[in-house]
Amino acid sequence: MARKKIALIGAGMIGGTLAHLAASKELGDVVLFDVAEGMPEGKALDLAQAGPVEGFDVKLKGTNSYKDIKGADVCIVTAGVARKPGMSRDDLLGINLKVMKAVGEGIKKYAPKAFVICITNPLDAMVWALREFSGLPHNMVVGMAGVLDSARFRHFLAEEFNVSVRDVTAFVLGGHGDTMVPVIEYSTVAGIPVPDLIKMGWSTKEKIDAIVARTRSGGGEIVALLKTGSAYYAPATSAIEMAQAYLNDQKRLLPCAANLTGQYGVKNLYVGVPVVIGAGGVERIAEIKLNAKAQKNFNVSVDAVKELLVACKKIDPSLK
Ligand code: APR
Repeated sequence: MARKKIALIGAGMIGGTLAHLAASKELGDVVLFDVAEGMPEGKALDLAQAGPVEGFDVKLKGTNSYKDIKGADVCIVTAGVARKPGMSRDDLLGINLKVMKAVGEGIKKYAPKAFVICITNPLDAMVWALREFSGLPHNMVVGMAGVLDSARFRHFLAEEFNVSVRDVTAFVLGGHGDTMVPVIEYSTVAGIPVPDLIKMGWSTKEKIDAIVARTRSGGGEIVALLKTGSAYYAPATSAIEMAQAYLNDQKRLLPCAANLTGQYGVKNLYVGVPVVIGAGGVERIAEIKLNAKAQKNFNVSVDAVKELLVACKKIDPSLK
């Protein structure tokens, strides 16, 4: 069987980390694409030279040409700019929408059979736009946000309960970041739901509420510490987990931004829900019954995504 091919569209901080992870796990040959000249080639060469030491054996190529992503099995998109001080939300939307148009057209032309994972922010709007511009089937285009948000939540919960992160599972829904909806009834330590752990005296409602708030602003906390740039290790590893689920037909149940077709009362919108990822891309959407509070929070999240799409359509009327 031919080796798999992983195309990374955007070779910045997350893109470079994705390349290292994809190479060290030998997911396939790696192509790093970026509009910046020299940089993707430089990162590819640097990483290729790590191969003999780390013992991974894959080809790495840096490029400015979409031709090189031809036939990719997986495309992970981080191309775009981050919001800078003084930039309005609409400025950012305008810039990254244009980037999604170029990327979507490149994927449509050279890798129309790929499983596409979008990371570019604002995530729920960008993954929708990327799908529109690429014309790929909805089940083959997803956004990475939930795995990262739930990883942040799991880390904080493990610290609070003083248990291994391995035993903590977390359930999150909704948009990325501020409007994320952690469902604590479905978040557990080795199967024991968080509300039961509160009853057992392992934590308090106030402390869990604070953890939820910290998780929601988890990206901002890192930006404030780094001062230049945003998180990249956890976002990259989260997207790699999704890529592996597809490449190895693992049927993992992971929270992702997926296109809803009526689930949770929502249609034609990308929003974070638990999905099964396997060889068929998004194979199934898990629709759980939400309690009134979670449903209310989920609706707030959905409204925020809807608002972003209205702004996108205003900026680019070709989007309907
Ligand atoms: N095509 C390809 N690459 C592009 C394009 C484009 N049209 N426009 C910009 N890029 C590249 C930049 O040259 C840069 O190398 O995208 C890369 C983005 O990398 P970083 O600025 O380092 O950003 P990173 O930290 O990797 O985050 C990428 O993910 O979490 C989100 O908000 C974050 O949208 C951002 C994205």
